[in-house]
Amino acid sequence: MVLGKLVHYTVDAVLLSTVVAGVRRSTGFAPNASAIPDPTIRSVAEKFLGVGETVFDMIQATAVNSSYFKRDPR
Ligand SMILES: *[C@@H]1O[C@H](CO)[C@@H](O)[C@H](O)[C@H]1NC(C)=O
Ligand SMILES: *[C@@H]1O[C@H](CO)[C@@H](O)[C@H](O)[C@H]1NC(C)=O
Repeated sequence: MVLGKLVHYTVDAVLLSTVVAGVRRSTGFAPNASAIPDPTIRSVAEKFLGVGETVFDMIQATAVNSSYFKRDPR
C-alpha cells in the first residue's frame, strides 16, 4: 500500500532527523548544510533538521515532566 509506505518513510525520516538533533545537542556537531550546493535541496535539508529539533524539544519537555524519567547526572 502506497500510503503505508509513505507513512513508514516519514516516520523513519523524522526518527533520523531526531537522532541528528540529539547528536547536535550532545556533541555540538551538526551536518554541514552549506556543503549542499543546491539552495532548494539545502533549504529542504534545513527544514528536515528543524523537524528533528522540534521533535527533540517535545521529547525533552515530556521527559522533564514525566515520572517515568528521573534526573540522572552523568
Ligand atoms: C561546510 O561545507 C562547505 C562547502 O563544502 C565548506 O566550504 C565549509 O568549510 C564546510 N564547513 C565546515 C565547518 O566544515
Ligand atoms: C512541567 O510541569 C510543571 C508543573 O506542573 C509546569 O509548570 C511546566 O510548564 C511543565 N513543563 C512542560 C515542558 O510541560
